[in-house]
Amino acid sequence: MHYQTLAPFPPGFLWGASTSAYQAEGAWNEDGKGPSVIDRAVFPPELSDFTVASDHYHRFAGDIALFAELGLKTYRFSIAWSRLYPEGDGALNPEGAAFYHRLIDEIRRHGIEPLVTLYHFDLPWALQQRGGWSDPRTIGAFERFARTAFKLYGDRVNYWLTINEQNMMILKGDVIGTLPPGTPDPQRTLYQQNHHMMLAQARAMIACHELLPAAKIGPAPNISCVYPATSRPEDAVAANNYASIRNWLYLDLACHGRYNAVAWSFMAEKGFLPHITADEMSLLAQGRPDFIAFNYYASTTVAADLPLDNHSAGRGREIEDRQLPGMDRSVYIGVDNPHLEHNQFGWYLDPVGFRVTCREIYERYHLPLIVTENGLGAFDTLEAGNKVHDDERIRYLSDHIRQLQLAITDGVRLFGYCPWSAIDLVSTHQGIGKRYGFVYVNRDERDLKDLARFRKKSFFWYQRLIKSNGRRL
Ligand code: BG6
Repeated sequence: MHYQTLAPFPPGFLWGASTSAYQAEGAWNEDGKGPSVIDRAVFPPELSDFTVASDHYHRFAGDIALFAELGLKTYRFSIAWSRLYPEGDGALNPEGAAFYHRLIDEIRRHGIEPLVTLYHFDLPWALQQRGGWSDPRTIGAFERFARTAFKLYGDRVNYWLTINEQNMMILKGDVIGTLPPGTPDPQRTLYQQNHHMMLAQARAMIACHELLPAAKIGPAPNISCVYPATSRPEDAVAANNYASIRNWLYLDLACHGRYNAVAWSFMAEKGFLPHITADEMSLLAQGRPDFIAFNYYASTTVAADLPLDNHSAGRGREIEDRQLPGMDRSVYIGVDNPHLEHNQFGWYLDPVGFRVTCREIYERYHLPLIVTENGLGAFDTLEAGNKVHDDERIRYLSDHIRQLQLAITDGVRLFGYCPWSAIDLVSTHQGIGKRYGFVYVNRDERDLKDLARFRKKSFFWYQRLIKSNGRRL
């Protein structure tokens, strides 16, 4: 649909930016923090680990001042579960609790709205050792941690996110999830973990509504727009299969408290069905989000099968792609999309898919939406005068924001946009060299240098954009 006039971004729109605790804070073992699964993971020696990261733990006051200068209306960050509870459960660490008091006070002092993720990939190691998300006791531990966060910070935090990208943790369990190497029957284990995380999320949402009636809480999955490779009906089925398993499984459970039929049949066919009780399903039905947060980086394209000869060309070649985790070739095959460009890391660039995604989520659930991640990972370089000319990032963000405005004009209720990331931080598995921030952090993979902060060109661009409430793209 083409419009003569676009709807403006609504007044009070939450222009923001995001980080996560383990990727930004560093101080991995300071002030009583316990280790998390990330601290025990092994990373390639040539890449940065997460021990210092961006040193946000020690430099948060300066960083928040920069975010205020940037003009952020909201700042999304996560609480490191093992900073509050070093053992995951057990005794509260007062120094960890104090850190988030200081951080939230500082954010509020600058008039910024905190948007808090409870759990962003960093399960406490002590919980992992006793079975992690395979053990139902982790559900209770998460609820306790969430209740503590609500009680400690709920007087200053109005927006909460439960679990970051639960779908990626399940679909890519071996890379960012909690699947110990060598686990027998990994997929079945992961879908059981998924069920437990869903229950934990439902309990956290119920607790939030009980303790903080004015606050709002929602899930934060990674949603990708899924295209069929061609107009062949079989490819349309493959795309529908993939969207049901990759995207909607997680939001259907969070919003409607039920497994969708396709995802359920997939799990049944493959022998991945989790163990479920009637009481658990009724708990899932009781836990209701107030909004949906989602992370969008790119679309995916799938086919039912691959072309056998040149005559059936047009269905593309098979690919491996970050947005295509957990591929099962009997259900869908990821293929190249010749209509799209890539970034330096081979991720597709698809701003139009962003608009489609907004529409799909909104039409399916009719809840307000907020984007909690979207951004361009790139090898930025620090040039003379400490300048970073990240024009590609500006182009990426501006193309995506234009599509957001179209989605708003389409009628999608969208109340915020938080690109990844507020400041440079360590990528999940590709080091600090893959940068996303508006602020450059002066360090390399192994050389910490002085960790000084420099505003990139995109910083000034986003500052102007926020000031004009999205008019000056
Ligand atoms: C999201 C995660 O999957 O994508 C972030 O929530 C992550 O933690 C971001 O950093 C970008 O991915 P990557 O792998 O480039 O760091």
